[in-house]
Amino acid sequence: MLSEDYIYMETGNKVIDEAVQGSATTIESKGNGNRKVYIESYGCQMNFSDSEIVASILVKDGFDTTKDLQEADLVLVNTCSIREKAEQTVRNRLQSFQHVKKAKPEMIVGVLGCMAERLKSKFLEEEKLVDIVVGPDAYRDLPNLVKQVDEGKKAVNVILSKEETYADISPVRLLSNGVSAFISITRGCDNMCTFCVVPFTRGRERSRNPETILNEAKELFEKGFREVTLLGQNVDSYLWYGKEGLKKDYKNLSDEEKEKSMNFGQLMEQVALISPKLRVRFSTSHPKDITDEFLAIMAKYDNICKYIHLPFQSGNTRVLEKMNRGYTREWYMGRVDKIKEVMPDCAISADIIAGFCSETAEEHKDTLSMMEYVKYDFSYMFKYSERPNTAAAKKFEDDVPEDEKSRRLSEIVALQRDHSLEANQGYVGKTFEVLIEKLSKRNDQELAGRTSQNTVVVFPKENYKVGDYVTVKVHSCTGGTLLGKAI
Ligand code: 5AD
Ligand code: SF4
Repeated sequence: MLSEDYIYMETGNKVIDEAVQGSATTIESKGNGNRKVYIESYGCQMNFSDSEIVASILVKDGFDTTKDLQEADLVLVNTCSIREKAEQTVRNRLQSFQHVKKAKPEMIVGVLGCMAERLKSKFLEEEKLVDIVVGPDAYRDLPNLVKQVDEGKKAVNVILSKEETYADISPVRLLSNGVSAFISITRGCDNMCTFCVVPFTRGRERSRNPETILNEAKELFEKGFREVTLLGQNVDSYLWYGKEGLKKDYKNLSDEEKEKSMNFGQLMEQVALISPKLRVRFSTSHPKDITDEFLAIMAKYDNICKYIHLPFQSGNTRVLEKMNRGYTREWYMGRVDKIKEVMPDCAISADIIAGFCSETAEEHKDTLSMMEYVKYDFSYMFKYSERPNTAAAKKFEDDVPEDEKSRRLSEIVALQRDHSLEANQGYVGKTFEVLIEKLSKRNDQELAGRTSQNTVVVFPKENYKVGDYVTVKVHSCTGGTLLGKAI
């Protein structure tokens, strides 16, 4: 799954128990009298990527985008349901829009994404906070839904699709620094981890036409972008077989479909071949599906970043089975061994859940020992949060007391803090190729970029600029950042 599911936007050792982040669009309106849309995104990278698709659909319909809520005619919130706290954040935000709406009653408020899908028309009936409710597969219908609201109705479309991948839509790059961009390659998830709401909110898994993915990546490179991140809940199960449709396994393809097929490794290779100056990242990998073939391709190309986000969730095989993750502790360790064998310099990060149903204190220790085994560069760490209608909610008791969940989470966080610092200390004295992404937040005489391993490096600006590749020697570090100097 994409951690927050993927919020996986920033590096650093983050506890995302409450850190569902909102972020407004950054494109200024063109000031030509068109109606203006303001979009705020919460949750995973996929949501941020979807918001760019939504912006593209609305711009085509005559809207301009704005980052100023006050001047918006249409306010959209792209939402996350992954944990209860994520939903509460969005509810609070929708409440605050009500105040703006008092002064400006004609302003339309719409809710997009996973919460829209999960709550459907309940959003209109019970919560009375919004005019439009649109699920992740219905964004093409937005212009029509806005029209319905203009006519005085409320509008809902939460139909999930077996084909929709928005393959032909060229996203408006809302949040981009002009250097890195997201490209969605799959939608939905078929894995049915018992704790997870995503298969219900994002529907069945579909792979996007590779031609459209490659064209999008090429266009981005031509526009000056230097990094793309291929996104999916489980990128390793990407499989194109000639047409848009539900996920199939390779063994079930017809001869004709096999002929046309492309798997994730093959897709990665094609993207990597666009230019050695285009970095390729991907998220999220699934331990049960990441193949040796893919790891070999990753190792072969310098521009495929040496960084894998490989959630393990729990270090205990009984708990993993109860989570329906499809692998054991030993299998996961075997995948890590293989990664380290073929790419000794590859960084690995994880998602970890503390206090899943019936997890004992001893089983929790297996999670800590897994962390010791792998020594993750960083992790996204969560307390288990029961989600309505998931298999876990239906079949298991959420029986680890809240204070015990907190205790386990704090042990996990403390250990990760040590490991992140250790990992960064290991980088001190070494040199890295860094892709410059922005001015440093703290000092405008410094630039910030990332290494292939996804670690943030800050160094004096000199004459370098955003979008350049530069070789930096690291001289010191904190737990989250490397400090260095260009050489
Ligand atoms: N409770 C806590 N964490 C969860 N995740 C997914 N569902 C839940 C839940 N119900 C975490 C998993 C996943 C990440 C995106 O969010 O670790 O990989
Ligand atoms: Fe990820 Fe499992 Fe949720 Fe799919 S069901 S999104 S693999 S955690």
